[in-house]
Amino acid sequence: MLIQPIQKLEGSFSIPSDKSISHRSVMFGSLAKGTTHISNFLMGDDCLSTINCFRKLGVNITIEDDTVIVEGKGLHGLTAPDSILDCGNSGTTVRLISGILSGQDFSTTLTGDASIQKRPMKRVINPLSQMGATLEAKEDNFCPMTIHPHKLQGITYHSPVASAQVKSSILLAGLYADGPTTVVEPAISRDHTERMLSAFGATLTREAAAVTIQPCEELYATDIIVPGDISSAAFFMVAGLITPGSEIVIQNVGINPTRRGILDVLLAMGGDITCFNEKEVCGEPVCDMRVRYSKLHGTTVEGDIIPTLIDEIPAIAVAALFAEGQTVIKDAAELRVKESDRIETIYTELTKMGAHITTKPDGMIIEGGHPLHGATVESHHDHRIAMSLAIAACNAQGDSHLEHPECVSISFPNFFELLQTHSELK
Ligand code: S3P
Repeated sequence: MLIQPIQKLEGSFSIPSDKSISHRSVMFGSLAKGTTHISNFLMGDDCLSTINCFRKLGVNITIEDDTVIVEGKGLHGLTAPDSILDCGNSGTTVRLISGILSGQDFSTTLTGDASIQKRPMKRVINPLSQMGATLEAKEDNFCPMTIHPHKLQGITYHSPVASAQVKSSILLAGLYADGPTTVVEPAISRDHTERMLSAFGATLTREAAAVTIQPCEELYATDIIVPGDISSAAFFMVAGLITPGSEIVIQNVGINPTRRGILDVLLAMGGDITCFNEKEVCGEPVCDMRVRYSKLHGTTVEGDIIPTLIDEIPAIAVAALFAEGQTVIKDAAELRVKESDRIETIYTELTKMGAHITTKPDGMIIEGGHPLHGATVESHHDHRIAMSLAIAACNAQGDSHLEHPECVSISFPNFFELLQTHSELK
């Protein structure tokens, strides 16, 4: 795909719905008694993978425009699928569903695309095995993975990683356990599971970085309105800040405190971003954001903020290239086990455009202020790498070519249309 330099971005628009919240609404709706209506659902490939898995588990799910209607089966109503469950490219689907399947009375095999088959599953295998399930995986770590359920026992699990996928998998298994289940994280990861499961009637309590769930008789359907995804807004926030003359308004962006790290980092870099119309929708805070071109400066991103912006680091790396001075990203080794090894893919592809980046085992150092030039760059079939490269290319000198751009359909199917509609070419 040809990407040409742009003049500026302008206009007011909304971005796609939150991927994490969309997944969970289908999963919890499927396990609830009654019918859940999910409005503003993200029709991206990952969330469609979740819908397909639950259909195979016997749940009737219909789609009407952007609304998904889930006829819940109750906590014990799922039925054995007649074949392997294909989770596509979606780590959230595999890991959360593993917790649910550990509490059923039938065995299931999960797999996904080439990327999913390389992503570590030991992180859910270990705690779910401690709870009593048996999980057989390729090399004890990779999909295809077969889950043999068992009567589960409540545990206290000290997770070595701050991961909402791991935490959620254990909490979902905890619904089926014989006593309370606690997950303690090294830093607090996104808390959509805790918020939404409470709305469906589960009992959860939090103490600092520890969350406890009580076993549950039933969940009860509740309607969900999904907010816009700050992880998708990220690309337009950065594009607006780095493209001279830009002023945009991004509507209805979720700003949950466990997700808004990018906003805080861009503000700390000198970004002119104003949040307004703040409100709460279905237990999640949302706002509109005005973003204006700004002279950015480098920063250090490390520690407990990392889980709150882990998916936005590729976009932050692009902002750092247009900032004055150095940006240091640390404590982000999790980037190596995302849809691609994002430390390597950010480095390799942006370097082709003239970026000065040094990689570290847990992050990178980015030298800002070196102009980028057009180049042929590769998405590595990673949606967030594709979109980060696109916004960098819009601000490079000369044309770029992006290979495998279609992966944006995972989380942001209309990304290129929106970019084109709200930008002027140079
Ligand atoms: C997600 C959690 C994060 C994130 C992923 C979505 C979720 O992964 O990277 O895109 O919906 O729970 P980890 O929990 O593994 O960090």
